[in-house]
Amino acid sequence: MELAGRVALVTGGAHRVGRAIALALAEAGADVAIAYHRSGAEAAGTVEELKRCGADSDAFRADLAVPAEAARLAEAVANRLGPVDALVNSASWFARDEFPSDDTGTWYRTFDVVVHGPFHLSNAVAPSMLDRGGGAIVNIVDLSAWQPWPGRAAHSVAKAALLALTRQSAVELAPTVRCNAVALGPTIQPAKFGPDQIERLRRRTLLGRWSGGEEAGRAVRYLLEAGAVTGECLTVDGGEQYGHVRDRFTD
Ligand SMILES: NC(=O)c1ccc[n+]([C@@H]2O[C@H](COP(=O)([O-])OP(=O)(O)OC[C@H]3O[C@@H](n4cnc5c(N)ncnc54)[C@H](OP(=O)(O)O)[C@@H]3O)[C@@H](O)[C@H]2O)c1
Repeated sequence: MELAGRVALVTGGAHRVGRAIALALAEAGADVAIAYHRSGAEAAGTVEELKRCGADSDAFRADLAVPAEAARLAEAVANRLGPVDALVNSASWFARDEFPSDDTGTWYRTFDVVVHGPFHLSNAVAPSMLDRGGGAIVNIVDLSAWQPWPGRAAHSVAKAALLALTRQSAVELAPTVRCNAVALGPTIQPAKFGPDQIERLRRRTLLGRWSGGEEAGRAVRYLLEAGAVTGECLTVDGGEQYGHVRDRFTD
């Protein structure tokens, strides 16, 4: 799909990885809607940056853990910029949880943001894509989609479900709408990570570095444009998934 003149919607687009994806799509010529929840000031700043790239752009507040807000978001974007041609589900909720535990709040919150949000949003934009004869969806996951991460049961199972939703959507919406995923490794350091944690994650990659948001944006752009690719997951992790075997046979 040629992105020039299309309408893209990026959830979690106010800052960090979502912002980098939104900028990559604007640079490819798309008009870009960003969805935010709490980061209104950052969203306004990102919209200005997107406009400087030549895109028409606006920011839309939505709590994607609430099903009705996904449909309302899709409608608001369509009214302001036009129906969504390219949907990128980047919003996420990354919390540690105990398993077993009496407190199931994190489990449900994580599923609401990571799985139910993308499901309801895909459900809201797909009918128009099918009617208009084209569209593409990219979901953002990480290695926990196929590697269970200790102490992150909700996150890992939810990302696995999001990858399954990607493949299921590819089947359900073919041949008109393509659906793919990008699995990121260490990309942009969270502010709450200490130097030791940042260094440990850097060393876990084969390439020895955090990848940066531009690489995430490049991968998403590729999958939105790649007319023969659907149901695929592109891993952009600096080799993190093979880091653990690097030193295995050195003796
Ligand atoms: N950063 C990395 O190195 C890295 C590594 C691997 C995978 N990833 C994946 O890349 C994506 C983006 O990561 P990130 O680090 O940039 O994200 P982040 O800093 O964890 O921020 C989470 C994003 O999700 C949005 N969000 C959370 N709850 C929401 C809700 N209820 N409704 C709507 N939006 C909600 C937030 O919006 P507001 O701020 O507006 O509330 C925010 O933009 C995620 O899918 C993540 O799993 C990132």
